[in-house]
Amino acid sequence: MKRFIILSFFLSLLVACNTSEEKNARLIEDFNFDWRFQLGDHPEAIDSLFSAENWRTINLPHDWSIEGEFSKEHPAKPEGGALPTGIAWYRKTFELPETLKNKTIWIEFDGVYRNSEVWINGQHLGKRPNGYISFAYDLTEHLNFGESQNVIVVKVDNSEQPNSRWYSGSGIYRNVRLVATENLHVAHWGTYATTPEVSKEKATVNLEVTLQNESETDKSFRLVSSILNEDGLTVAEAILEDKINKNTSKTTIQYFEVLNPNLWDTKHPYQYKIQTKVYEKNKLVDDYETALGFRSFNFDAETGFFLNGVSTKIHGVCLHHDNGALGAVANYEAIKRKLQIMKEMGVNAIRVSHNPSSLELLELCDKMGFIVQVEAFDVWKKKKVKADYNLFWDEWHEQDLKDFVKRDRNYPSVMMWSIGNEIREQFDSTGIAITQKLVNIVKDLDKTRPVTCALTENVPEKNFIYQSGALDLLGFNYKHKDYYGFPEKFKGEKIIASESVSALETRGHYDLPSDEIKRWPPAYNEPFDGNDDLTVSAYDQVSAYWGATHEESWKAVKSLDYIAGTFIWTGFDYIGEPIPYPYPARSSYFGIVDLAGFPKDVYYMYQSEWSDADVLHIFPYWNWDEGQEVDIWAYYNNADEVELFLNGKSLGKKSKENDDLHVMWRVPFEAGTLRAVSRKDGNVVLEKEIHTAGNPSKIELKANKESLKNDNYDLVYLTISILDSEGNLVPKANNLINFEISGGGKIVGVDNGYQAGLEPFKANFRKAYNGKCLVIIQSNGKAENVQLTASSDGLASESIQIKISN
Ligand code: GAL
Repeated sequence: MKRFIILSFFLSLLVACNTSEEKNARLIEDFNFDWRFQLGDHPEAIDSLFSAENWRTINLPHDWSIEGEFSKEHPAKPEGGALPTGIAWYRKTFELPETLKNKTIWIEFDGVYRNSEVWINGQHLGKRPNGYISFAYDLTEHLNFGESQNVIVVKVDNSEQPNSRWYSGSGIYRNVRLVATENLHVAHWGTYATTPEVSKEKATVNLEVTLQNESETDKSFRLVSSILNEDGLTVAEAILEDKINKNTSKTTIQYFEVLNPNLWDTKHPYQYKIQTKVYEKNKLVDDYETALGFRSFNFDAETGFFLNGVSTKIHGVCLHHDNGALGAVANYEAIKRKLQIMKEMGVNAIRVSHNPSSLELLELCDKMGFIVQVEAFDVWKKKKVKADYNLFWDEWHEQDLKDFVKRDRNYPSVMMWSIGNEIREQFDSTGIAITQKLVNIVKDLDKTRPVTCALTENVPEKNFIYQSGALDLLGFNYKHKDYYGFPEKFKGEKIIASESVSALETRGHYDLPSDEIKRWPPAYNEPFDGNDDLTVSAYDQVSAYWGATHEESWKAVKSLDYIAGTFIWTGFDYIGEPIPYPYPARSSYFGIVDLAGFPKDVYYMYQSEWSDADVLHIFPYWNWDEGQEVDIWAYYNNADEVELFLNGKSLGKKSKENDDLHVMWRVPFEAGTLRAVSRKDGNVVLEKEIHTAGNPSKIELKANKESLKNDNYDLVYLTISILDSEGNLVPKANNLINFEISGGGKIVGVDNGYQAGLEPFKANFRKAYNGKCLVIIQSNGKAENVQLTASSDGLASESIQIKISN
């Protein structure tokens, strides 16, 4: 017998959620600490009696590739980041208290690159080739309790190369958890919440809960699910009573109404959550949380994207998973910093290219307000590089795609499922059946989001993925000039520029004249006519031939309402794919922000277009040869004009005309001060100055936050700038900086954003590049303030203290 009780509350009747007398029934243990690690192949470690005492002790998440040295001989090649790969083993011994004896216990891995195999107490649990997918293994049958130890062993095999078009990292590079529940519990990824109706007045929620009864007896249960607002107050509750047979699973549905809901959008990402409690008789046996946000969205073939009924251009960037000097390590703070930098630029959407993301990225996108396109694959059956996912396609694609959707379908930020990027099967008829199959898999699990694919072939009859007729939203990569013909070619279709730009820049480097546009390669098989030091001008004047400069591309997207928006390749530089140069170039030039997290100038073009902030940014630096003609660009907004002064003398006022995105002055260099003033209706909006810098004299240290949490995870990013005696950034300074650290922090990465630097990312020194470098500090668990000193020959040393907090 089923009994549904649906309770919904008016906001005025909010009741505090009463959790105090109930202990959490689900135990979730952070399983990242105290692993042993050894490079090379060590099958002998499977044996529980094997001693790993000589192996290195590490904490997860861990990426062994980032610890290595660059070499063009590494099998991953410069395209893969020129870092070592190979095979390695991880091992962890642990005890479990007798009290857990009758529980169901499993282990969750958020991502292991790649080909992981896992053993518990000598028993093989399984293999997972896909390096980005999350997975879990049930350990219950194989565990020891009390004083007997358990050994979990993980083999990671990233030896077959090349297997990626970018840097993948190697190892257990995302989080691991141990979960213990009673044998009646919510299944892994066992909830699915949809919001059939969303308006300011009312939202409805359908919650599917899959319960698993792993016991030998049939059971009666009571399911109490509550929707909690950001203050932890219950705004709706549903109670259901039912029975579940032994050794089965069962899916039930609960329904809720929330009146006057706070909507989720990119500026006010209001988050609710659903707390589901499972009771047997009156005993709480499981509790489970599901992310929830109230938003409605739709794509329109003529007018683009709407969020909660409001026309919203998608101002997106593509992001790879690496976190610069930390490598592939998925760290909440590292991802948060990346997203904060994007947010300040005005970005409202992220395309997770080209693989399932970390959980932390999606949690942060929910919290910070980004629209997300998640993406399942970069290849299907047909390879791009020798040992890529094509090897596993036949055996694994169904499972991987299902798991990807099941894990990600509750995040309100996720609004598009991409089944692939530039998939080769778009060019032949096999693409039709595969597309239909993949779309069906996704739709079986979630019908509330459009399924898309990032295509390159935009001649309709030649594109078999398009011909499948299965896509809800067409994603097109590059070829912005073709956008104008899309309404004719793709009548009635919804369209997004799934990837655009691929412009190339090195922070702080400028080639003159700035209006000479270059493409890479200039023509078929021709080498790039670049710079000996492997730099590319930051004037937004160079792009891959298939792409465009930032301005070329954005002008097209901006002017066309039927293009829902764009995802720029890329928000950040990433390791690998160092187009346009050969080794020692080893990381990409595509980012709007460099690998260290320092914005390139074009960041401010987007900020002036996409954000609400007043912007005035002038560049380049002001150290040139006397009399040399230099182009000075200004990005600005919220003003009618910008006036530029050199040493107090006006060089004239300029205004953007038509679809201009910057103004420019060509000026013979004269040392001194450049001053720009933006005005609206005659009133000054902003002023900016750049001074000719003298010799390096001092070091400036700036932390991205004031304190570091004493939790072994938290990070502080310190920007080091080389200044002259007046405090001006010395534009070409490349001083070697040495770091000394004491207290509750350790250095986990150094960088300077230079794409062809071969210094290690794990070191206590770094040369500045174009005036700046970065050091990343992580909590080491000690409850002591952190003291970091930066010193360099000929410069005054500088120290900074970072408070430790709990
Ligand atoms: C695209 C591809 C991206 C990246 C980019 C570089 O075609 O989808 O992954 O390779 O080119 O321009």
